[in-house]
Amino acid sequence: MGLVGRRKPLLEKLQRSLKTPSFIYAIDVSEEHLLHQAIQRHIKTVGIPDIVIANAGVSTGTLNSEKEDLVTFKRVIDINLYGVMHTFLPFMKAFKKRQHGQFVGIASVAGIRGLPGSGAYSASKAALINYLESMRIEMLPFNIQVTTIAPGYIKTPMTNDNTYTMPFILEVDEAVKRFMKAIDRKKKFVIIPWQMNILGTLMRLLPASIWDFLAKRGPRKLRAMINETFS
Ligand SMILES: NC(=O)c1ccc[n+]([C@@H]2O[C@H](COP(=O)([O-])OP(=O)(O)OC[C@H]3O[C@@H](n4cnc5c(N)ncnc54)[C@H](OP(=O)(O)O)[C@@H]3O)[C@@H](O)[C@H]2O)c1
Repeated sequence: MGLVGRRKPLLEKLQRSLKTPSFIYAIDVSEEHLLHQAIQRHIKTVGIPDIVIANAGVSTGTLNSEKEDLVTFKRVIDINLYGVMHTFLPFMKAFKKRQHGQFVGIASVAGIRGLPGSGAYSASKAALINYLESMRIEMLPFNIQVTTIAPGYIKTPMTNDNTYTMPFILEVDEAVKRFMKAIDRKKKFVIIPWQMNILGTLMRLLPASIWDFLAKRGPRKLRAMINETFS
């Protein structure tokens, strides 16, 4: 198994906690070249995996009217959208040749409609959902599955600082269990948990005027630049 993240100490800790042997790569997924090289090395060492999961993501509040937020906006897209492409691309040729494999992308309910105060995150996840969908159809002739998981809220460092109520929030272990079930069943698109699926499906169907009316009252993520310092 190969594990990617930027913080090596955290990867080492995770590696020690796993029963399955693993290789760690302290790489930023927005660094296409470095990630590509690491994946080539990984394939040479352990072979082609059955499943590739693109989970890396960042979230922060942004305001579309603030010019200085453009830097954050680009960074969020770089990681949340291009990072996924950089993760999948090096496996494409091998998966296609072998006619077997599964790509899993972790999107978000935030990608279903535009969320005020979260333009960057919302746009990155909306783009991701559509990218994964187009890829899913392109992969059909090659017997390659593409699974899109759109979670609601999960208790992780990403949601730690949220001061508002997060409906149907899942503990991380429970979320992982449900992710694994969806991956195992080769689901095409799934919103987790099921309560969020109902909400997400409704969100998708609402006319713009009703969505605007509801969303303007909704909670907003704190506006902040992305903190890029690692220990
Ligand atoms: N928590 C939620 O409520 C929620 C809801 C919907 C969707 N999601 C999605 O679920 C995924 C995981 O989020 P989380 O809640 O576990 O957030 P998290 O606790 O902040 O973890 C984010 C993970 O992504 C890695 N990462 C971030 N930027 C990276 C980069 N540039 N290169 C490589 N790795 C990077 C982080 O490791 P390093 O920092 O060490 O790189 C960390 O492992 C994300 O895609 C997120 O958008 C989360």
